[in-house]
Amino acid sequence: MRKSIALFIVFWGLCSSLPAQKEIEVPPVYGNIQWRKNHLQTQDSKGRTIPLTRRAAEYTLSELTPEVEGHTHGLRLRFAAKGLRGGRITYGLIPYGQHRFPTAVLRFEAPIDSLGRAFLAIQKDLAGGYDHTGWTQKGFGILGYRLTNVLGEMVFEGKQAFALENDRFTSRPTLSCGPFVAQVTDNSAVIWYETSQPVPTCVKTNAAPDTFISRNALRRHELRLTGLLPDSTYQYTVGCDGLFTNFHFTTAPAKGSTRPFSFAYASDSRSGYGGGERDLFGTNALIMGRIGALSVQQKASFVQFTGDMANGYCSDPDEWLLQNTNWIHAVEPYWHYVPFYLGMGNHESLGWHSDSLGWIVADGFPYETHSAEAAFARLFVHPENGPQSEDGSRCDPDPYKRGDFPPYTENVYFYTWGNTAMIVLNSDYWYAPLLAKTKPLGGNLHGYLMDEQMRWLKTTLEELEQDSAIAHIFVTVHTPPFPNGGHRGDCMWYNGDNSHRAIVAGKPVEKGIIERRDELLDLCANQSSKVIGFLCGDEHNYNRMLVQEDTPRYPDGWNLPRVALRRPLWQIINGAAGAPFYAQQQLPWSAAVQAFTVQNALCLFDVAGPQVRLRVLNPDTLEEIDRVELR
Ligand SMILES: [Fe+2]
Repeated sequence: MRKSIALFIVFWGLCSSLPAQKEIEVPPVYGNIQWRKNHLQTQDSKGRTIPLTRRAAEYTLSELTPEVEGHTHGLRLRFAAKGLRGGRITYGLIPYGQHRFPTAVLRFEAPIDSLGRAFLAIQKDLAGGYDHTGWTQKGFGILGYRLTNVLGEMVFEGKQAFALENDRFTSRPTLSCGPFVAQVTDNSAVIWYETSQPVPTCVKTNAAPDTFISRNALRRHELRLTGLLPDSTYQYTVGCDGLFTNFHFTTAPAKGSTRPFSFAYASDSRSGYGGGERDLFGTNALIMGRIGALSVQQKASFVQFTGDMANGYCSDPDEWLLQNTNWIHAVEPYWHYVPFYLGMGNHESLGWHSDSLGWIVADGFPYETHSAEAAFARLFVHPENGPQSEDGSRCDPDPYKRGDFPPYTENVYFYTWGNTAMIVLNSDYWYAPLLAKTKPLGGNLHGYLMDEQMRWLKTTLEELEQDSAIAHIFVTVHTPPFPNGGHRGDCMWYNGDNSHRAIVAGKPVEKGIIERRDELLDLCANQSSKVIGFLCGDEHNYNRMLVQEDTPRYPDGWNLPRVALRRPLWQIINGAAGAPFYAQQQLPWSAAVQAFTVQNALCLFDVAGPQVRLRVLNPDTLEEIDRVELR
């Protein structure tokens, strides 16, 4: 009794201290959720009230973007982030144009004072024998800088352009992110980049006779080049203020081409242990940088990376943006040349937080501004050929109204390269991370592919089956159908418990997680002759298995229909891109596992006409981990 009074006081204290929230319309696909006196709340599975809050960000990208003041000897940067006070800034010039992969040459340090200010003594530090970019002569340069907090933890790496005019340094706009190539097809490509402030920029390329000049001052710039030739290399120059960066990209081979090519695959690069670049606020920038370098060195035409780029589980879209920008910066030098295609994992989660449960419990809404799906689509550039959303599905309480569910735009899609198609799925859509504890609220289960996404997959596989130009299909999805180490209790298995499933408007959906896994296997093995297998992650290791009819795959006592596999499928898990490792666990199908390691790994697929070979390299040590002919 005394305990419950104490709990009530703690809970009352918690509620009364929460800042009032503005009432936002609640999507009807959530159950048992109410506004009470300007606070959003739900109930847990035991009927206890759970206030839903937006967890305060530790750092945001805006607070790490400095206000800059020019002086006679350098620049004074002021950062709003309180967590940086007492920290340090390390900086140096970026030698654009001198190397294929321009990166900051960090050399000098300055303290960040109690007001978040740091003075970069450019005149003193970077002149004479330290001017390796010729800024003194040009009167213009670009700095790269790293921000470290008082604990020595790395928080962000940014860029700052400067000019020296009339004996005074001034801040200049520059490319803060990019340029990147994306959505590269056999006849088109997108070039995108962000600038430190809204400015007009220009792109000159030999893919088009005219220079593209943005008329409006923007921060986010995207340009689609069309009418390109297959298998052709195009130069491109992005101009922003005094900077002109020269890079190039190569278009995909003609559809159906049997000319050999390679692509790279990995996932799961959130922060690892050991400090330094292994934990660059949210991401393992050390291993990601090596993965980027190795991909390009191995002549990968593109990189597929399916989820858990950064720690995530944020409420503030600006914190999510910071973590994912840190990931982007880790591979930025390589992305100038080859496209990176990303998928969503559970760690892309952005949503409502429960202080009492200590974690994110629901995807954020309004979906347009606060969902993980919208944040992902805003930041990355992917094909828009996926399903729209789960609106209109059998479980939608209002099937004629759009917007009850978050969008699939740019998080479920497919693309092709020569004779190969890559289908990117999202098994963490509308994700409710603690669903077992928050059933009354509902949401989607980690690993569960919802109905409309499955319907789109079926149609897409049918179209690709009919397409004579496509010989091979890979299906990439963050959570493996058959976990092997670290995720026995979830992914598409849940220790063999089929009762796990999404909950929409308070009602569990018809099919359980193992039935849904079987539908996925049926589509890929039985309805398609071209799917080679699944490229998965979530488990922080590399493992490879062949799933075939005699592979045990049901729990004891399974009394629902079994799906017979008419041909085998590979399952390749490579969540070894820097997140903390998981060792192998025993599962009914363990005898089918042919390779397993906790080393960091990069998969390289060599496609040569009808043949497909997999090589796996450790991006840290360059050791070859595995090699196998897949087809
Ligand atoms: Fe994951």
